[in-house]
Amino acid sequence: MSDCQIIDTNAATIGGCSLCGNKNASNLGFRRKRDWLKDRYAEGLRYKVLRSAKSGDIGMIEYTLGDHAWRPVEAKGYLVIHCLWVKGHHKGKGLGSLLLDNCLEDAQRSKCRGVAVVTSSDSFMAGSALFLKAGFVSVDRLPPYDLLVKRLQKTAPNPRFIVDQERLPKRYRKGLTILVADQCPYAAQSAGRIAKASRTLGLEPRVVRVRSAKASRELPTPYGVFSILYDGKLIAARPISATRFRSIMRGNADACRQRVLA
Ligand SMILES: CC(C)(COP(=O)(O)OP(=O)(O)OC[C@H]1O[C@@H](n2cnc3c(N)ncnc32)[C@H](O)[C@@H]1OP(=O)(O)O)[C@@H](O)C(=O)NCCC(=O)NCCS
Repeated sequence: MSDCQIIDTNAATIGGCSLCGNKNASNLGFRRKRDWLKDRYAEGLRYKVLRSAKSGDIGMIEYTLGDHAWRPVEAKGYLVIHCLWVKGHHKGKGLGSLLLDNCLEDAQRSKCRGVAVVTSSDSFMAGSALFLKAGFVSVDRLPPYDLLVKRLQKTAPNPRFIVDQERLPKRYRKGLTILVADQCPYAAQSAGRIAKASRTLGLEPRVVRVRSAKASRELPTPYGVFSILYDGKLIAARPISATRFRSIMRGNADACRQRVLA
């Protein structure tokens, strides 16, 4: 652990950092995430890299002020953690806790109401265990997502989910729509794979870039970064593989066929 330090990034230094384990500067998701970050620093977003002298960038934490969070939560006055990640075999050595403590210290210093985070029992984002151990409690739940908070001010109102599961599915009633924000460096690639796979199924997808925190908070899922809608129904709420997409579409077609036959 003494080999590691937490580096606070800014618009001038972010280009040289690994972004959530992605350091390929020619990758579209990497470039979009880097540019997205450059636009966010002025809003108060912090992207901190855990750098090992021996192994390079092996972890990160990203958080921002509640009003600017790219998650559908009402969390005014809180810091909202977007992502916490530690690389493969470096897990289980206290590094995730180190990054989280750094964020909690920041919240204390800046006199925030507390720190909130959306966790998931699904494997693509941090689970709740580490946060619960650090004194967070669950204040809202939309399975498999949990909204956790560590309040620093006793009388502060708890954050809550503000997920509207109906508005966007109603707006995109027909065909396949992929909504994707640059907050996740893996989302662009997933959107591209799904668009390609959908064309092999004879569908022309509509790909919508989610370009603001407000728009990301309108997504019909607590993970305000990625959604796939098909004929007005949410069929995926996170980046998925083309294989998973095809299997979901097969399941949809089977369900339709059964309804017709019934
Ligand atoms: C959640 C995550 C960040 C935790 O990171 P971590 O470095 O493994 O966390 P820690 O080592 O601090 O804590 C994990 C466990 O190791 C224990 N531990 C081991 N050695 C330790 C040490 N020296 N000091 C403190 N804790 C230690 C902790 O007590 C904790 O125990 P628990 O499993 O009983 O809760 C990590 O598992 C991860 O990256 N998961 C994937 C999240 C993801 O997908 N993020 C990307 C989407 S944004």
